[in-house]
Amino acid sequence: MGWLQLFGFMCTAGISITQIESYMLNDNPNGTIINTTKGFTYNTNYDSKYYSPNYNTNFNTNRNPNYNSNFKTNYNPTSITNYGNSGNINYNNSGTYGGYYSYGTLDELECPEYWFHFQKSCYRFIRSPLKSYLDARKLCQAYSPETGGSDLVSIGSTEEHGFLINQLNKLDPQHRRWYIGAHQQSASYYTNPDGTQFVSAENSILAVDLPYGKDYLAYNFSRTLLRWSFEPVSGAELLLYICEANIGAVQRLVSQGRDYKYGVDVEDPQRIPRGPYFIKQPTDAIFDTSKRKLYNDITISCLASGYPTPTYKWYKEDYENDRLVAHEIDPLQDSRYTVSGGTFIIHNPQQKLDHATYHCKATNKYGTIISESVQLNFGFILEFVLKRSPESGDLNWGKAVYCDPPNHFPSVKYSWSRDYFPNFVEEDARVFVSHDGALYFSALETIDRANYSCSVSSEFSDSGRNGPFFPLRVNPH
Ligand SMILES: *[C@@H]1O[C@H](CO)[C@@H](O)[C@H](O)[C@H]1NC(C)=O
Ligand SMILES: *[C@@H]1O[C@H](CO)[C@@H](O)[C@H](O)[C@H]1NC(C)=O
Ligand SMILES: *[C@@H]1O[C@H](CO)[C@@H](O)[C@H](O)[C@H]1NC(C)=O
Ligand SMILES: *[C@@H]1O[C@H](CO)[C@@H](O)[C@H](O)[C@H]1NC(C)=O
Ligand SMILES: *[C@@H]1O[C@H](CO)[C@@H](O)[C@H](O)[C@H]1NC(C)=O
Repeated sequence: MGWLQLFGFMCTAGISITQIESYMLNDNPNGTIINTTKGFTYNTNYDSKYYSPNYNTNFNTNRNPNYNSNFKTNYNPTSITNYGNSGNINYNNSGTYGGYYSYGTLDELECPEYWFHFQKSCYRFIRSPLKSYLDARKLCQAYSPETGGSDLVSIGSTEEHGFLINQLNKLDPQHRRWYIGAHQQSASYYTNPDGTQFVSAENSILAVDLPYGKDYLAYNFSRTLLRWSFEPVSGAELLLYICEANIGAVQRLVSQGRDYKYGVDVEDPQRIPRGPYFIKQPTDAIFDTSKRKLYNDITISCLASGYPTPTYKWYKEDYENDRLVAHEIDPLQDSRYTVSGGTFIIHNPQQKLDHATYHCKATNKYGTIISESVQLNFGFILEFVLKRSPESGDLNWGKAVYCDPPNHFPSVKYSWSRDYFPNFVEEDARVFVSHDGALYFSALETIDRANYSCSVSSEFSDSGRNGPFFPLRVNPH
């Protein structure tokens, strides 16, 4: 655990603790964990009227089961059910660009905001960040869930080119360079990403020095011709770019009220903006006090996902005037504390100080979620009493010898040794150890005459204690 602790300290060193917060929890110590359908979890432990006024207001929206409209981000990439909110639309897509979309006629469809509509396509002019040809292409493709539903623009007619330069004139008075999808196949033959032939107006491809390897095209405003033209480029340059989406494919962005990909450069699904959600809730922890010399740390952790990557805070729950109050764990106030990501480590845990319930909070800019409350307990087994008086029983009669275990937490397992450790008593039909630790003889025999000792071992760790040996006498009739 040493490395983890070290790691923890290294991490916290860079985190600036801004404001340490506390808030009231309501009276039900159990709370109720409610999962929303979108993967959000909130805990009804939290009683909004006790929040401090400057408490993150996002938090309250999380608690409302109907809050979904506020969150465009909680889209589940694997779910198709989200598409259903337009009623009669059949989303059985053909999976190819230009394919058949069986809902509505294309004329009735509109492009999402920031997309420009021309004929059967929507166009988006991406100004930032600048990308290479291949990256730009990937980002354009990410706008549609269907293969080929969106890509770098395929220019298939002079009308389309006319529409684009018209837009460029409005959008880019600075005359910067914009990738289009065209890729050179031979001296004067370019293909579009959709497989069609790139069509341009006459002489619109600029002559460049050293054209070798410049297989791609970018819109460039020629100062000599005073018009937008195509400049052959290598593809490695970082430029602006123009995406084109089949209006049917991109329509889903509209019907979902702007889904997760809307307006965002998506490079991989992990980067889809999304409120935090728990991957791993914390679980109750037991610190084994008998192992203090070996491991003097206890760790509880929660793990949340979301994008941007959530940040975590840990809270300790204390009763104050009969109210449960959550206090943020502040490593600056107690050097025994380490908070590193979702992991909370207490070094040298003390039952008096640390025996409590805790929970974590994960936050990103889209909201905050609260974990279940977990208990930090202290596992211990006190010493057996040092001496124990002899036991006796009658030959052929039943006999129960009780373990008389020392105080312990949590539960222990029992075993019995005969004459020396660890010479465990073999259980059989006649001799057995009961659940409560007693050693039972259904009928005593003379061979049972011996010294016995009960041992207990923790159910959660391998620590244990051995009791004193004492004789068992077997009285003949
Ligand atoms: C809390 O949980 C315990 C055990 O699950 C249950 O017995 C008790 O009734 C619960 N208390 C409340 C107030 O729900
Ligand atoms: C919430 O989700 C967890 C894990 O997916 C599940 O074990 C639990 O039963 C759910 N709770 C409710 C109230 O649906
Ligand atoms: C979707 O398409 C498949 C294959 O073309 C077809 O079998 C299925 O019935 C269609 N589903 C709907 C809802 O139209
Ligand atoms: C393309 O535009 C840049 C300015 O963005 C300019 O310097 C360059 O000369 C242009 N290329 C051609 C071939 O006109
Ligand atoms: C029990 O232990 C004591 C002390 O070691 C020894 O004197 C005695 O003989 C033992 N009793 C039996 C029954 O083995």
